[in-house]
Amino acid sequence: MKTQVVIVGAGPAGLLLGQLLHRAGIDSLLLEQRSGDYVLGRIRAGVLEQGTVDVLEHAGVAARLRAEGLAHDGVEIGFRGFRHRIPLKELTGKQVTVYGQTEVTRDLMEARAATGAPTVYEAENVTLHDIGGSPRVTYRHRGENHEVACDFIAGCDGFHGVSRRSVPADTITTFERQYPFGWLGVLADFAPLWDELIYAASDRGFALASMRSQTRVRCYIQCPIEDTVDRWTEEEFWAEFGRRIGPDIAARLPRVPALEMSIAPLRSFVAEPLRFGKLFLAGDAAHIVPPTGAKGLNLAVSDVFYLYEALRGFFREKTTSGLDGYSARCLRRIWRAERFSWSMTRLLHSFPGDRFDERMQRAEIEYLLDSPSAQAALAENYVGLPL
Ligand code: FAD
Ligand code: PHB
Repeated sequence: MKTQVVIVGAGPAGLLLGQLLHRAGIDSLLLEQRSGDYVLGRIRAGVLEQGTVDVLEHAGVAARLRAEGLAHDGVEIGFRGFRHRIPLKELTGKQVTVYGQTEVTRDLMEARAATGAPTVYEAENVTLHDIGGSPRVTYRHRGENHEVACDFIAGCDGFHGVSRRSVPADTITTFERQYPFGWLGVLADFAPLWDELIYAASDRGFALASMRSQTRVRCYIQCPIEDTVDRWTEEEFWAEFGRRIGPDIAARLPRVPALEMSIAPLRSFVAEPLRFGKLFLAGDAAHIVPPTGAKGLNLAVSDVFYLYEALRGFFREKTTSGLDGYSARCLRRIWRAERFSWSMTRLLHSFPGDRFDERMQRAEIEYLLDSPSAQAALAENYVGLPL
């Protein structure tokens, strides 16, 4: 078998690339190691930048997002028992849209199924060959071995995927920062007791009050990196969340069972470059941000948009300039999002440590809450830098 682009990984990055290529008349084969249900069961990001919404519109998958997404004009920062609103729209002219990654993925899966473009779920042992010359991908599915020749491979297989690991070690440089904590998250069905997202820096650690819809909330608390979900009961989660987010909300939290409870470690990671011959990395395969800036999914979408433009340029206009410039174009945006996510993480979490650092952190939050220009800088990054 032969196709133009093999896409490894059917998370949001791989599915979106497949959809954009399909609309440009470029063939792709999408290979995913998990089942579709498993992919939809992962609860992840919740906030879309305007640029992301625009790309999803361009891909023709934004009908439900337009109908059900919640437009937010601001976010709140909680600190020392008070909440301070950052008016995103007033400061930047832009909004963010609350619409879960699960829903984006579902919309993209349905669009791909409707096009009839090939997708193989539960593809085992996906292996990349000759990425510097005539690329091929082999995999096993339902007990049979398959081989596909292609012009290009898009590595959209996330942080633990095979693509980044397929390049020679001396051609890739990685940059990493691990944080000494994770986020314990709970998804639950009740009407949010907050109108906008609240990022709370309390003395007991960070908490985030988010939502998925008018009837579903997503809440997180900072937890030690060694913690596991079974060490927490739902009651303990809500009690700790309430202490960190504030007594007005704590007093009104309903007791409903969690739909999902999980822990995500926090990490900053970048691999350079993003191109290795005929292999192009995109999304979490190339970089990870801690979730504090809500940038992970948005960054995956901007990589994919650049890659789509580059591949369209190659197949339609026979120009290689987009492919040649892909890595540098992505990395410029990636490092800015890394910087913002790192600074939000440092600003809002409790770090075990140094009393001087604690005072610096407090001074930085107080400065932010007093300074219109510091708030404007936060808002500009939060709503998303231009694509
Ligand atoms: P992924 O979503 O990871 O998709 C990659 C796909 O490739 C997966 O479906 C995987 O099964 C598949 N795959 C892996 N290996 C192979 C292989 N060998 N062969 C074939 N397929 C393979 N961002 C936020 O903004 N807010 C959050 O709260 C948030 N929470 C997160 C929690 C977790 C646990 C993780 C991992 C990420 C979180 N993120 C969050 C980040 C955001 O969800 C990601 O940036 C986004 O999922 C990136 O999309 P992607 O398609 O690049 O990667
Ligand atoms: C979420 O709703 O899951 C969410 C929102 C904002 C973030 C991170 C996660 O910064």
